Amino acid sequence: MTAPGGRPDPLVERMRPYRSSIFAEMSAAAVRTGAINLGQGFPDSDPPAVVVDAAVEALRSGHHQYPPGAGIPELRHAVARHQLRRYGLEVDPEDGVQITMGASEALAAAVLAFCGPGDEVVVLEPYFDLYAAVVALAGATLRTVTLRPPGYTVDPDELRAAVGPRTRLVVVNTPHNPTGHVATLSELEVLAEVCCDRDVLVVTDEVYEHLTFDDHRHVPLASLPGMFERTVTISSAGKTCSATGWKVGWASGPAELVQSVRAVKQHLTYSGGTPFQHAIAAVLDDVEEVVADLRAALEHQRDLLCDGLESIGLEVFRPDGTYFVTADVAPLGAEDGLTFCRELPERAGVAAIPTQVFYADPDDGRTLVRFACCKRPEVLGDAVERLRVAFR
Ligand SMILES: Cc1ncc(COP(=O)(O)O)c(C=O)c1O
Repeated sequence: MTAPGGRPDPLVERMRPYRSSIFAEMSAAAVRTGAINLGQGFPDSDPPAVVVDAAVEALRSGHHQYPPGAGIPELRHAVARHQLRRYGLEVDPEDGVQITMGASEALAAAVLAFCGPGDEVVVLEPYFDLYAAVVALAGATLRTVTLRPPGYTVDPDELRAAVGPRTRLVVVNTPHNPTGHVATLSELEVLAEVCCDRDVLVVTDEVYEHLTFDDHRHVPLASLPGMFERTVTISSAGKTCSATGWKVGWASGPAELVQSVRAVKQHLTYSGGTPFQHAIAAVLDDVEEVVADLRAALEHQRDLLCDGLESIGLEVFRPDGTYFVTADVAPLGAEDGLTFCRELPERAGVAAIPTQVFYADPDDGRTLVRFACCKRPEVLGDAVERLRVAFR
C-alpha cells in the first residue's frame, strides 16, 4: 500500500481502515459552513458550578504534578463508594479501581490487556467507533451482534451465535451510544447467561450511567450473578458532570482483571489530569444531586429534538438515555445516511452523524442518522427550524 505521492504508507496496515473518524469529518464540515453541530456529543453549557469550583480549588491547592499511576487515592475510594452505594458492587479501592484518561483509555487498555491475535471480541452494533479501532490495534477480530430499531434490544439467538470458542471478550455498552437504549434486566440476564456459559471476559462501557430518562434505570452487568468476577466496569465523569474535556475515567472490578488493565494503562499515559481527579473525587459522593438538573434538562432537550424531528417527518427512535437521538431520514427521500450527512451542513446548516458507520455492514443502518440532544434548547430549536426549511 502506498500513500499519495508514491511513498510507502507509514500507517501500520491494521489501522488503515481507522485513519479518519466521522466525528472529525462532520465537525470540520460544521466549522467550515457555520452549521449547528449536532454531530459530536458534547454539551454546549458549562458543568454544574460545584464541579467547576472543585477544580478551581484543586488548582489553587497545588495539585499540578503527576498523580500516582493508579490514580489519586481520594478518587479511587470515591469510585469504590459509588459502586457500592449505587449498585451493591464491592471493589477494592487499591487494587480494584484504576483511574484513566477518560473511559477511552480504560477501554483501550482493557482490550489490549485481554486480547491478541486469534481472539474474537464481540460487540453490540451500532458501536462506539473506538471499540473497532482498539480491537484492530490489539490484532484481534471484531464480531458483532446487531441491535435493530425500534427497540434496539439484544437478540438472544444472535448473541449465542456470535459468542463462540474463539471469543475472548464481550463488550457491552449500556446506556448505549448511538441508540440511547438502556438494557433491560431481561437483556442483561441473557448477556450474563451467555457470558457465564461460554466463560468469557466482559468489559462494560457505562459512561452514560447517570443520564437515563423517564423510569429507565441503569443496571451494571457486573451486578448480575456470576458476572462480577469476569467483568471490568468502565465509566467516566465526562458525561455525568458535563465535562467531557476533563477526561477523568475509571475501570473497576476484581483485582486480577483491574491489575491487568493497570499493567497496560501505565504504558499508555502512565497518569494525568491531577486537578480534575481531585475535583471529581470531591463531588462523586453527591453525584445524584450534582447530575439531577443536568439529567432533567437533557430529558427536556431529548423531547424537544424528538418532537421537532418528528414534526418534520423523520421516523424517530426516542432514546431511554444518553446524549443522542437516532432517526430514520428515509421519509425525507434520503437513500443513504452518509451522503445525507455529508450534504446536510451546506443544505440545512446542521451537522449530524450517519449511524451506518457504526455497523460492520452499513446496510444495517443505511438511512439512520444520529443527532446530539445535549445542546441548549434554543440551539436545538434553531436546528429543527433549519431542517424544516431545508426539507420543506
Ligand atoms: C459509549 C462511549 N464510551 C466512551 C466514550 C469516551 O468517554 P471519555 O470521553 O470519558 O473517554 C464515549 C464518548 O463519547 C462514549 O459515547
